Amino acid sequence: MIVLGIESSCDETGIALYHSEKGLLSHVLHSQVELHAEYGGVVPELASRDHIRYLVPLMEQVLQRAGVKQADIGGVAYTAGPGLIGALMSGACVGRSLAWALDVPAIEVHHMEGHLLAPMLEQNPPVFPFVALLVSGGHTLLAHVTGVGQYELLGQSLDDAAGEAFDKTAKMLGLGYPGGPVLAKLAEKGEAGAYTFPRPMTDRPGLDFSFSGLKTFALNTWQDLLAECEGGVEKLEQGQADISRAFEEAVVDTLSIKCKRALKQTHCRRLVIAGGVGANQHLRQQLAKMVKKEGGELYYPRIEFCTDNGAMIAYVGCLRLLAGESKELSIDARARWPMDELSAIRV
Ligand code: KG4
Ligand code: ZN
Repeated sequence: MIVLGIESSCDETGIALYHSEKGLLSHVLHSQVELHAEYGGVVPELASRDHIRYLVPLMEQVLQRAGVKQADIGGVAYTAGPGLIGALMSGACVGRSLAWALDVPAIEVHHMEGHLLAPMLEQNPPVFPFVALLVSGGHTLLAHVTGVGQYELLGQSLDDAAGEAFDKTAKMLGLGYPGGPVLAKLAEKGEAGAYTFPRPMTDRPGLDFSFSGLKTFALNTWQDLLAECEGGVEKLEQGQADISRAFEEAVVDTLSIKCKRALKQTHCRRLVIAGGVGANQHLRQQLAKMVKKEGGELYYPRIEFCTDNGAMIAYVGCLRLLAGESKELSIDARARWPMDELSAIRV
């Protein structure tokens, strides 16, 4: 079965074709970064309109690249939540209508389940059970994964998601949008030990996170620096890099401490990182070191499948369609959609 996957939950339009036996056939992505850059963040209405503009041309591209005809599509999968409602509606309407026109089943995919299972698209996929660290712009959570749709929540962020904290801190430092990758790049120029940020909620048991205090810590440090060195551009630039480094180190350390705890608590050896912040090299390196020390294994998708993409949606859609799930003609995109509402399926 060939499944066409559509991702349009935020600021990226991703389309992919996944073959149940041959694997991923092709995938394309259109990023809206330039569109939102001048506003310093995602403008939901502009995002929806841009998805509408790109969905059909990208579908044509993905078919052409794979040498697949429209008539070969056996099912359509689209992200139905969580995300920006207008952006979700764009992909859901197009996806559901296409399935109707082709007379094939359609399936709604949970965006975070897509992220969580994205490492399955790689050569050496993790086997169940494993601990998953999901770190994106909207979510930060740790789950004990025992099968598809079997996600026991171990802990989550009580305020900002890790990606959100990266983005807000970057904005405060005047680094613009998208904040995460820009801040991470600048952090490379930062001096080790110039500042030490707290590791929130690591001094007590439990697997929940809190990142909003780090953002405030960064703001205060930045304001002190601004007051200290009026006119000293070079010092300010170095300070910006130093704060970026200290902030990144604090987030990475905190995530690593909680992942280690989660592995111990669940007696798991395998750790999976997924979601946009999983593209962070420093995080990957530190988790790899920690997992190796614990005698376990670390899995993550290639960088382009850490951030939003259509491949993960096509993959999850294919699994669920093969398990007999499908969506009737109504379209119900959801801005919020708790992961524990997902049904377990046998693969
Ligand atoms: O998974 P994703 O593409 O979209 C959501 O589902 O939210 O994640 C986007 C988030 C953004 O907050 C972005 O700043 C962050 O992932 N991100 C990074 C890096 N690349 C993307 N954060 C830190 N370091 C990176 N290299
Ligand atoms: Zn995402």
